[in-house]
Parts: sequence; C-alpha cells; structure tokens
Amino acid sequence: MGDNKIIGKVPFMMVLFFLVLSCFPATVQPSINTAVQLMAGFGPSIVLPLTGNVYPRGYFELSLRIGNPPKSFTFEIDTGSDLTWVQCDADCEGCSLPKHELYKPGKAYVPFDDPLCAEIGNPGSDDPKKICSFNVTYVDGSTSGYLVRDIFTLRPDKGSTSGSSTLTFGCGNKIQSYTGEPLETAGILGLSKSVVSIPSQLRAVRETQNVIGHCLSGKSGGFLFIGNDPVPSSGVTWVPMLKKKQYYASGPADLFFDGTDIKLSHVLFDSGSTYTLFPSTIYGAILSLLSKDLIGKKLVQVPFEQDGTLPVCWRGIEPFKSQSDVKRYFKTFTLRFTKDAGLQLPPETYLVISEHGNACLGILNGTVYGVEYNLLGAISMLDKMLIYDNEKGRIGWTSGDCFPPISRTEPFSAML
Ligand SMILES: *[C@@H]1O[C@H](CO)[C@@H](O)[C@H](O)[C@H]1NC(C)=O
Ligand SMILES: *[C@@H]1O[C@H](CO)[C@@H](O)[C@H](O)[C@H]1NC(C)=O
Repeated sequence: MGDNKIIGKVPFMMVLFFLVLSCFPATVQPSINTAVQLMAGFGPSIVLPLTGNVYPRGYFELSLRIGNPPKSFTFEIDTGSDLTWVQCDADCEGCSLPKHELYKPGKAYVPFDDPLCAEIGNPGSDDPKKICSFNVTYVDGSTSGYLVRDIFTLRPDKGSTSGSSTLTFGCGNKIQSYTGEPLETAGILGLSKSVVSIPSQLRAVRETQNVIGHCLSGKSGGFLFIGNDPVPSSGVTWVPMLKKKQYYASGPADLFFDGTDIKLSHVLFDSGSTYTLFPSTIYGAILSLLSKDLIGKKLVQVPFEQDGTLPVCWRGIEPFKSQSDVKRYFKTFTLRFTKDAGLQLPPETYLVISEHGNACLGILNGTVYGVEYNLLGAISMLDKMLIYDNEKGRIGWTSGDCFPPISRTEPFSAML
C-alpha cells in the first residue's frame, strides 16, 4: 500500500517565453504513407502504446529508443511538463535505476547560448564548458542536470535511417523526490506546448504536426499519439485552448452535479497528475454535494487511517469489487465549457476502488499541494481520446476504447 503517487508531475508555474520558429529546415522524410499529414509536408503520425493505470500505479508510461545503437527507456507521459529528461549516468545523485540502465550521455552537450536553453529559463552558468543546465520542479520532486542532443527512434518499424529525429532533452543527474518514493520510470516525457517539448521539436523539423493525443484506458494501458492522423474527423467536442498559458488550459467552465452549478475559472488538462485537483473552496463544495447526495445510501466515510489510499474514502455494506458496484451510489458530474461542449465525469473518472474495497475520492484539495487552480488529472480523462491541437489552438475529446489504432482496421492501421 501507499506506492501510488497522490499527485503526479504538476508543473510549477514557470514563466517561460514562447519562441516562434518562423522557418523550418526542409528535412521531410519520404514515406510510403498516404495519410493526411503528408499532403501538408509532415511525416505520418507517431502512435505509441502505453502501460500503466491511475490506481495503483499512478501514471501511464511508454518506451522510447534513444541513441545509436538505440537503447529503450521508459517515460511517464506528462502534458503538464515542458522538458523531457532521462536518468543519466553522469555522477547521478538520486537516480532510481541501476547504473547499466541509465542513459549514457555522449559529447553532444547543448551550449547555454542555444535558443532552446533560454526556453528552459536557465539564468546562465559559471560552467567553463558553457553547457546548458536545467532544474525542473514538480509538486512531488525536482530534477536537475544538463541538456544534451541525441537520436530518438520514434517509428521503430521504419528502420534505422528514417523514423528517427535528433531531439534535445535533459540528462538528469540530480533527482529529488519529496515523497521519498523513487521514480519508477527512466524519465518524464514533456508534452506541453513549450518549444522544448517533444511535439514542438518534432514540429520544428516538420516531422509531425503539433497535435498530440492520448487515450488512457480505465482498465490499464492505452496509447499516445503525436501528429494529426488519428484525430477523428467527426464526433470530437472541441473547446478553445487558452493562448497565453504555457500549459494546456480551457476557458471558464461550470461544474454541474445533481442540479447544482459550481463556477470554475480556466481548467488545466494535465495527464502527469494522477488525480483531479480543485482549490479548497471548490473542493469543499464538491465534497459537500457528494456527501449530501449519499445521505440514506448506506455508505459510511472511513477515517483516513483505516484505508490510507486517499484522504476521503467510503465503505459500502460489502466491499466494492468493481466500478459497476460503485456506479449505483454515485452520480455523474458534467464539466460544461459552452452550451455545446460538455465533458461527462462518471464515477469511474473521480473514484478509485482501494485494495480494501472502499470507494476513494480521486478529487483532491489542491490547496494542500499549493495548487490554486482547477486541474483535470489522468483519472478524469480515462476511456476518452483527449486531443491537444496546438495547430488550431483547441482541446478536444471523444469517447473511445483506447485500443491502439494499429489493432484497428482502416483508417488507423495505415498510420504507424
Ligand atoms: C532545483 O531548484 C530548487 C529551487 O531553487 C531547489 O530547491 C532544488 O533543490 C533544485 N533541485 C535540484 C535537483 O537540484
Ligand atoms: C484544503 O486544504 C487547506 C490547507 O491544508 C485547508 O486549510 C482547507 O480547510 C482544506 N479544505 C477543505 C474543504 O478541506
């Protein structure tokens, strides 16, 4: 018990600048694919299978191959992070992987006058080698190191020469966990809209369009994609993405529950946070609505010491075995952004069943973690395809079973 992370990689509100790259090197890969992206001069979309779950793991991960010869590393996916980094074999303090599994940096350091270095907010360095160092801070830890460049094999099926891109990322050699729990993956995959994020870097070399999406299965696993091809041409609910923010956020929304309406300012979409967080007053309002609705339903709230999974848990007459047992007692929330754009949050997107068979609330009091904004975490994105379309400045979703597109028939099968 207790090895699930209460909260994943919530980004601190770093003030970063958005660098607009106005010209792109013409390195379009020839491809056998007929997908839509090619017509616009982009390579085919990249689709990567995920493993992991909200509970008990607390995160979703994928494997990427780096270097030549390529070596596999696991990354926790994080739409709330800018920089991708990997545990690095460079006098590492706090690395959780055995030495032979660490990334071995070559000599491809990034100098601190590199444009991408300015983007990670590096104030400069006394280092005589003038390499670019970084320090990223999360709610549950921090990592520092220096930037390097290496080859990522993103389309393994395309062989060794095509389907790979040279990307800039962090060699993390000082890793601190505030919770004391070691990082289980080799690194974090930064998927934000910052120019240092992997999708932005791929866009800069015209490898893929800057559109990402994920489908996180409530049963475990799912897939992540980079590029526009897997986005369905209909049936997607879209809301505008706030332009000025570094992170993925919508405008104001209303949270409806059982006829009551709670007003929210913007909402952040952060797959790197396991649970959903609201500031204290909103969290309090949600908790009282739920408690009121449970009156007379034979559920009792158990003290934290008795379950230990999450701050608020309810016990039924019998231990809960599946989400369908829970569904009878809990109603669906609706997050309404506009008249036509609503995101349904059924019980399985805000409750987990603990190992003790209690229903535990996956909505947390953000104020406890210093998070004073509304943040939709992975739990509330389960069994939907979430799309972050940086080309058109919008966020979308549609329901889905989260089987990777490769196992489907057309049009998805042509995309890998
Ligand atoms: C990163 O910076 C923060 C704030 O200055 C500091 O507390 C933390 O120890 C640094 N992290 C690492 C791993 O050096
Ligand atoms: C949320 O956390 C803050 C800080 O710990 C606390 O003061 C507040 O009472 C909590 N709110 C609720 C509704 O529990």
